[in-house]
Amino acid sequence: MPSRRSFLAIAASAAALRAGSAAAQERFSPFVGSNLDNVRRMVELAALRAGDTVIDLGSGDGRIVFAALQSRPDVRGIGVDINAELVQKSNAAALERGVADRVRFLHQNAFDADLTKVDVIFMWLFPELMRLLRPKILAQARPGTRVVAATWDLGSWPPDMIDDPGGGASPVRRWVVPARVEGGWQWDATIGGVSHRFSAVFEQRMQHAEGVVRVGNRREILQHVILRGDALQFGIRMTLRGVGYIGMSLTGRVRGDTIEGMIHAQVPRPGDDEAMDDISLPWRARRVASPGFFGVTGTDLN
Ligand SMILES: C[S@@+](CC[C@H](N)C(=O)[O-])C[C@H]1O[C@@H](n2cnc3c(N)ncnc32)[C@H](O)[C@@H]1O
Repeated sequence: MPSRRSFLAIAASAAALRAGSAAAQERFSPFVGSNLDNVRRMVELAALRAGDTVIDLGSGDGRIVFAALQSRPDVRGIGVDINAELVQKSNAAALERGVADRVRFLHQNAFDADLTKVDVIFMWLFPELMRLLRPKILAQARPGTRVVAATWDLGSWPPDMIDDPGGGASPVRRWVVPARVEGGWQWDATIGGVSHRFSAVFEQRMQHAEGVVRVGNRREILQHVILRGDALQFGIRMTLRGVGYIGMSLTGRVRGDTIEGMIHAQVPRPGDDEAMDDISLPWRARRVASPGFFGVTGTDLN
């Protein structure tokens, strides 16, 4: 039962929320420019590459986008801000700086920004606003897109890299948007002259993925699964019918509903119990709605 004091606090914040909701469609971060050290560290952590397009969600006076453009002549930029005056001033500044052909500032809500063609997303907004943008980023940005934010984190999505110098300076964090691998996958591989169907099921939470695999009636846990952007790798150790106990490592790129890469395996040499041969073969997996992993197994263990 809440105390009278905490009940009053809840009622007061609910009233504030109702009053606020009449004026604003969602939470809002007013314009405060990032300090220049944070801007420098954000651009540095973004590790910009040739041809990258960056976007700043809530670009203010454009300082982060301008710093990114200045750091590399082959980078393009987009700024979106809800404040029309700041957008107009940023576009004027782009002309003055001679970079108007590489950047555009749009009067737009961050929730409407097109994230499908950018390589880096910068944010320095109130923590709730950044957290509210998280599902949009995960749903729309391409796997491999880097997200760089200063001061606050993105809730339970753990960053892949942190620059935290301490001494009162803001931490700057970088996340890499992971490919979606959750669910069923299937691939065939001819190993030791025998064709085997692999049926895997992945579970995923952000960039953390785990999986299991079935071949025939044998099941194993995928080892050392690493998902970074669209790059996926893991190992399998299991006995394959007609081949023996093998170790495999699979590396590939997730492209929507397919994974393409290579399988490297160590297989027993036929007729020689002691020797193993290294083999490599292409890996092409496809996403399946009804993974064979869940198919009937039966009770025959032989
Ligand atoms: C804290 S300032 C950051 C400005 C700039 N990114 C920087 O670091 O210097 C936040 C900016 O986000 C803008 N903003 C707030 N809510 C927004 C929204 N929903 N969509 C787009 N811009 C927003 C504000 O107008 C403001 O310019």
